Amino acid sequence: MTMLSERASAKINLYLHVVGRRLDGYHRLDSLAVFAGAADTLTVEPAAALSLAVTGPFAAGLDGEADNLVLRAARALAAQAGVPATGRLVLEKNLPVASGIGGGSADAAAALRLLGRFWGVDVRRETLAAIAAALGADVPVCLIGRAAVMSGIGEILTPAPPLPPTGMVLVNPGVAVATPAVFRARDGGFSAPAVLPAEGWRDAESLAAALQATGNDLEAPALRLAPAIADSLAALRAAPGCLLARMSGSGATCFGLFADAAAARQAAGGLQHPGWWVWGGAINTG
Ligand code: C5P
Repeated sequence: MTMLSERASAKINLYLHVVGRRLDGYHRLDSLAVFAGAADTLTVEPAAALSLAVTGPFAAGLDGEADNLVLRAARALAAQAGVPATGRLVLEKNLPVASGIGGGSADAAAALRLLGRFWGVDVRRETLAAIAAALGADVPVCLIGRAAVMSGIGEILTPAPPLPPTGMVLVNPGVAVATPAVFRARDGGFSAPAVLPAEGWRDAESLAAALQATGNDLEAPALRLAPAIADSLAALRAAPGCLLARMSGSGATCFGLFADAAAARQAAGGLQHPGWWVWGGAINTG
């Protein structure tokens, strides 16, 4: 078998409501997660042992991590399938780490998809979903890789209403935020789940208008921990054509919605700033 590869697409929470808390401390969520063209790439080629090298603009600090989520995913899949964990993995890290767009979770999910093919193992979908959930709350949605409403702690997924073509700009202010710290910094209140129209939205404008009735409950605590997030939000809101600007996940990456990919790419071009990571394109609607 020759080299195989998988994309690990950025996951963006268009809204994220914290609706409760479990006895084990995990939070119950209601969130509309979508995916965009920005992605890490994971490749594998034959080798007797399992290894992982990290390349790309955000490789620093991740290379050689023995407990990298990609390796944990690989070992969990091999154990479940009863095959030896082998292969030389290379992760091209294009997405900022610890940034609220699911990078590590998307990488782990990509590893499950990629190595399932590479090893030729046939693991039931439910079993794969359980492996994903054990690796992290965002891994199940990243395994599916398409827009979904997340509930439970992230492991219960229902298909999202059909999404209209929508431009998106991502801005990361260059600060890493630890997810547990953001949940701890919440003020403790809970939100109601959002109500979404089953038929979806006519266009990006109506999607953005509907999202105004929702929010990201982690935005306020993340802003307290990392005030630089406010600069990214302000820059997005000031960008011509921005329909809605909000933080994704536990931050610090913020997103702006635009009428289409061309408007988003144009806005992204005007948002360059030292130390920022900026991406412009579209929400995946397929
Ligand atoms: O599942 P994952 O390892 O991605 O979660 C990281 C941390 O985020 C958890 O240890 C927990 O503190 C917090 N978390 C939470 N509720 C969720 C997801 C994550 O409290 N639904």
